[in-house]
Amino acid sequence: MKILAFETTCDETAAAIVEDGRKILSDQILSQASLHAVYGGVVPEIASRCHIEAISILARRAVEAAGIEKKDIDAVAVSYAPGLIGAVLVGVNFAKSCALALGVPLIPVHHIRGHIAANYLAYPELEPPFLCLAISGGNTLLVDVRGYTDMKILGSTRDDAAGECFDKTARVLGLPYPGGKPIDDLSKGGDDSRYSFPTAHVDGSPYDMSFSGLKTAVINLVHNAGQKGEEINRADLAASFTKSVSDSLVPRAMKAAGELGYGKIVVAGGVAANSRIRADFTSAAEKAGCNLYIPPLSLCGDNGAMIGAQAYYEYLAGTRAGSDLNAYATMDI
Ligand code: KG4
Repeated sequence: MKILAFETTCDETAAAIVEDGRKILSDQILSQASLHAVYGGVVPEIASRCHIEAISILARRAVEAAGIEKKDIDAVAVSYAPGLIGAVLVGVNFAKSCALALGVPLIPVHHIRGHIAANYLAYPELEPPFLCLAISGGNTLLVDVRGYTDMKILGSTRDDAAGECFDKTARVLGLPYPGGKPIDDLSKGGDDSRYSFPTAHVDGSPYDMSFSGLKTAVINLVHNAGQKGEEINRADLAASFTKSVSDSLVPRAMKAAGELGYGKIVVAGGVAANSRIRADFTSAAEKAGCNLYIPPLSLCGDNGAMIGAQAYYEYLAGTRAGSDLNAYATMDI
């Protein structure tokens, strides 16, 4: 089954063709990051307008690059929540039009379910159940993935998402948006014990997380040093900050997997590209004797293929949308 899938929830316009949920036939992505970089973050209206300009071109390219014709498309899928509402609306409306014009079913896909499904593309042997940590620019969730379409949130951030914390910290250090990769690069060779940053715990909710205190601690450290005329070692700061984020994420995910009795841990989302977090997960999983699945860097960030992968399993579960499908800024997984 060939699915034409769209992703427009934030600042990537993406269209892909995925076969049977596991094989990428094409994956076209246009990132707007450089346009938003001058503002230090995503400007929602600019994002929506860029999606409008790009989406039909990417759709055509996705079909051409897959080496198929429009008549070969069996269904159209779209990421319909959560995300920037104006941006999501562009994808939803375009997907609706495609499904109508092609006379094929329309499948709505939750964006985070898509991030999780990126792992099905990378690891043909991976099947639920497993524990997943989804870490992106807008979401930080610990999810019990009981089945392809049966998921339960065990914990989430109470405030900022992990990716948002990377982006804000990068901004304080004068690094470009999005800040995750520049901080990752800067932290290499840095001393992660040089600065002491908090790792938050939420009383009574062991799987919930919080990153706003960490963000404030970085801002205060940089401002205080500036006022005193002290030099900050930026590499050490980036390494210490990343260690604190990783210490919030990795032990929680390992504990949750252990309590559920799962021998499989899956990491998903843009922040899964972080080299320190990948390394910490690799050694923790090795120690616990768990199988670890983290997507290749090309499938960590937003892409259309992950939406096409999840859409296949949604389709098998009977999920369909009508032409009244709407977009949602927030939605439970
Ligand atoms: O999954 P994604 O592309 O978009 C959302 O669905 O939110 O994630 C984007 C986030 C940004 O906050 C970006 O800074 C972060 O992923 N990111 C990273 C790295 N690469 C991207 N964070 C840490 N280390 C990285 N190497």
